[in-house]
Amino acid sequence: MSEPTISRDPRHWMRPGTLQLAALPQLSLYIHLPWCLKKCPYCDFNSHEWSATAAPGEDMPEARYLDALRADLEASLPLVWGRPVHSVFIGGGTPSLFSPEAIDRLLADVRARLPLEADAEITLEANPGTFEKDRFRAFRQAGVTRLSIGVQSFDDAQLKALGRVHNGAQARAALEEAAQVFDTFNLDLMYALPGQTLAQCEADLRTALSFAPPHLSVYHLTLEPNTYFAKFPPRLPSDDEAYEMLDRITAITGESGLQRYEVSAYARPGHACRHNLNYWRFGDYLGIGAGAHGKLSFAHRIARPVRVREPRLYMERALAGDAVASMDEVPRAQLPFEFMLNALRLREGFALADFMASTGLPLSSIDTALREAEAKGLIERDARQVRPTERGFDFLSDLQSLFLPG
Ligand SMILES: C[S@@+](CC[C@H](N)C(=O)[O-])C[C@H]1O[C@@H](n2cnc3c(N)ncnc32)[C@H](O)[C@@H]1O
Ligand code: SF4
Repeated sequence: MSEPTISRDPRHWMRPGTLQLAALPQLSLYIHLPWCLKKCPYCDFNSHEWSATAAPGEDMPEARYLDALRADLEASLPLVWGRPVHSVFIGGGTPSLFSPEAIDRLLADVRARLPLEADAEITLEANPGTFEKDRFRAFRQAGVTRLSIGVQSFDDAQLKALGRVHNGAQARAALEEAAQVFDTFNLDLMYALPGQTLAQCEADLRTALSFAPPHLSVYHLTLEPNTYFAKFPPRLPSDDEAYEMLDRITAITGESGLQRYEVSAYARPGHACRHNLNYWRFGDYLGIGAGAHGKLSFAHRIARPVRVREPRLYMERALAGDAVASMDEVPRAQLPFEFMLNALRLREGFALADFMASTGLPLSSIDTALREAEAKGLIERDARQVRPTERGFDFLSDLQSLFLPG
């Protein structure tokens, strides 16, 4: 392992090394807005209930946070100088808690500092609990091109069990407005929920599809360590029941014209999420905001910067000129696994040429693992492309772990 490094000095990252990246991959921008109305009991994202840390009557520090993001971005520029940005994802937390005026200012700050491609995809995560009439239209006017709506379920009892602040009617209203205002949007659902039956899961999915979402993400509810649910686990469907639900989800989405192009993502042709595709293709991303992670390539090394996690400390540090908590170099031996963690999530898999281009490694570094994966029926390949098989998709972590350093 290389020594952990905190250095924003581009010369440090540009010095010679053993990797050879002929060209740098596509660059995206991730912006983290960390606050939520209420922390959900299953959530392990860097999201914070504002009222839990605020003095009575103290408002969310929208302007100060935007100042911090601007300072963070400015301090990062030397590491990505001149590189065009092809997508922006404003995630959280609950970004739709920020006012449309704040999002407008944020995007203006970004455009003034980074060469954003003219047709860049700009996604904003929205929570139906923050929905009010015309709010989505105002986000669109601020420059957002795609909304990602965290519905999770349409069933009021289920939403309550998940600790959500919205109900099914609010989810429907939010989707109706999103469908009217945006050319493309995403709907997040979760399945294998506490006490959920196959019929309830199917009903949720059919309601979701009635809004004709161009993109649907469906996640298996997982009990993450350090969450309320990990401490007080609800009764969840068995693994077999969960598999059955996933089979139904894949069949029904397929019938309605959505393609499962990634393990959890389904889209109509032309509506795959460009920002997430860039992650899965092992592209680069600059991550700004509290706790944001990034991945930045240089000619001879790849770095993973991480921002200070706690929002108030993040603002303080960013405004003082350095919000980076750590910036480690990805060890050469770890790169094949990191690449596969992403690329094998895609139905299309990856081109061998892209593996070499984005890791800077020769194909010999994955030859043995590819042979083993093929022998086990987990991948299929030709001279150019490697794809996970159905079995590979079902046993994805077994497949990915074949690429761990020996
Ligand atoms: C970054 S979260 C934030 C979105 C937004 N704050 C919300 O919750 O509506 C994005 C998505 O991850 C999914 N998610 C969050 N925690 C999860 C968990 N423990 N298991 C499965 N999916 C989860 C949810 O579907 C959620 O919409
Ligand atoms: S609203 Fe989303 S980000 Fe916030 S606590 Fe709930 S799941 Fe996490």
